[in-house]
Amino acid sequence: MIYLAPMEGVTTHIYRKVFNKYYTGVEKFFTPFLSPNQTKSFQMKELEEIDNEKNRGMLTIPQFLCSNAEHFLWACKVAADKGYSEVNLNLGCPSNTVVTKKKGSGFLYYPDELDVFLDSIFEGAEKIGTEISVKTRLGKHDPKEFVRILEIFNKYPIKELIVHPRIQKDFYKGEIRKEWLEYAYERSVNPVCLNGDIFTSEDIGVVSAAFPDACALMLGRGLIARPYLFSEGDDLIDKARFRAFNEELTDIYSERMSGDFSILCKLKELWFYMLPALKVSERFEKALKKTTKVSEYRIIVNEIIEHAGEA
Ligand SMILES: Cc1cc2nc3c(=O)[nH]c(=O)nc-3n(C[C@H](O)[C@H](O)[C@H](O)COP(=O)(O)O)c2cc1C
Repeated sequence: MIYLAPMEGVTTHIYRKVFNKYYTGVEKFFTPFLSPNQTKSFQMKELEEIDNEKNRGMLTIPQFLCSNAEHFLWACKVAADKGYSEVNLNLGCPSNTVVTKKKGSGFLYYPDELDVFLDSIFEGAEKIGTEISVKTRLGKHDPKEFVRILEIFNKYPIKELIVHPRIQKDFYKGEIRKEWLEYAYERSVNPVCLNGDIFTSEDIGVVSAAFPDACALMLGRGLIARPYLFSEGDDLIDKARFRAFNEELTDIYSERMSGDFSILCKLKELWFYMLPALKVSERFEKALKKTTKVSEYRIIVNEIIEHAGEA
């Protein structure tokens, strides 16, 4: 099974819907993190992510970034009322603003508090009828922190333990810590989903062979780079489809956002991942970077797609 990783600002409900219209291969989509808090209300942007109409035809899992059990359970109830029977707990976010609030991977540094929190949310979620999956890193400063963390995870009926085998300090850089992925895979009593640095068909083959019983592979940057990976393979074959995919994203973001600058910021973030996979001349990277007009951007994108594979 393949999951599309949550990526804040990237895998928005708009992206997920357009992806699902043009491409195949993804069984589960995760929302970027929503932040339940003491206000017990979600922002409009967060509500859109779990809006039923916007997620129609897809299996979407709401993800929550939270270290307060009452707030987390409030969010589970909101999700349950919309028909979501599974939610995901974010214990992976490495951003300093999140970590200093003891959330995301910052929460991993407080295992006793994490244990109390998990105890409350699993008890509460059972009453609501909600299953909880967890997306985690190995720890904050040292991967050895994961020994204790996994002992705690093993006490709870985690639907799926999604492991990104890096510590907070690694952010998304450097080699993944494969030995710790093996550790999680061997010792987790709950199903393990693997996440991190899976970019190509070859990577998928290697990971699937090494971890045959993993319940799923979760791809983030790899699938943003190659949305066609499971439909066409590593190389773009169907240019018309890729063009239509990009046009629809451009149309929807243009309708919903105001000002070329913000629309292009959104779209250029996707090209940061997509462009290297397309093997085109460097001049396209410069042209994309330079453009400040959506109309000009559309022309450049068409040219890039036209010349894909030529460099
Ligand atoms: C721009 C960006 C935004 C992200 N936002 C989230 C998020 O909202 N929730 C989350 O659990 N992980 C988030 N992640 C982490 C990804 O889900 C994923 O774990 C990470 O990119 C590693 O997987 P990959 O190598 O397949 O990309 C984000 C990563 C990036 C690069």
